[in-house]
Amino acid sequence: MKKHYKTIKFIACSTLASMLLVGLAACGKKDPNSPGVEFMPDMYRSNSLEYYNVHTVDGDTVYNAKKPVKGSVARGYLPYVYENTPTGYEAAANLKNPLTAKTREQYEKEGEELYGKFCVHCHGVTGAGDGKVGAKLPGPPPPYNGTLKNLPEGKIFHSITYGKGSMGSHASQVTQEERWKLVYYVQKLQGPKEAATDSTAKTAAVTPPAPKK
Ligand code: HEC
Repeated sequence: MKKHYKTIKFIACSTLASMLLVGLAACGKKDPNSPGVEFMPDMYRSNSLEYYNVHTVDGDTVYNAKKPVKGSVARGYLPYVYENTPTGYEAAANLKNPLTAKTREQYEKEGEELYGKFCVHCHGVTGAGDGKVGAKLPGPPPPYNGTLKNLPEGKIFHSITYGKGSMGSHASQVTQEERWKLVYYVQKLQGPKEAATDSTAKTAAVTPPAPKK
């Protein structure tokens, strides 16, 4: 029995020793910068063209990260010219809702869905400013159907874009088109305006101003 142990020990030791030798031999290359034996060279050095680089393909120099031509506008994106300043806010009052392809009711419905995702927790279901988060803010959101009743559509859009007071900008969460859908829904919550100055004029119950004398 003891003899067997000795033989096993001997085999194990000699195997280890030979593995060590092979290992050392692999390191003992003449070129010190050589990585030695590579089992899967493709794993170390990719054959593919890497991003944001300059490459030579068939003798042509190829830049695979070109900047768009100056003045180009990304699809689905419209530049917004009004600045995030009090002057920009006032100027935005002239903006009109560009979404007219569908009916107002359809847009309101789509706006309601977005409102449920991005606004309801602050502004509340009816827009009274009593959402779970909104009610806890030091200055809760004013009610749409009260203080904000006559806020024109352009200013609503502007405030969703840049934020106002403790409300942050929503430009990264909702696209411009979605913001205009939200405007339709906010207007629904505002109810008929006392003095319609924008596209709600058609639907709002407005008494025409007295003719000037
Ligand atoms: C973190 C809570 C919060 C969220 C989320 C939020 N709001 Fe507000 N919102 C406020 C507060 C607070 C005000 C009042 C800001 C002020 O006048 O100082 C406000 C103001 C407004 C106003 C009036 C702006 C003005 O020009 O007077 C509009 C319109 C509005 N929010 C729409 C939205 C819409 C639409 C969404 C969803 C996309 C939204 N808000 C999400 C808190 C929020």
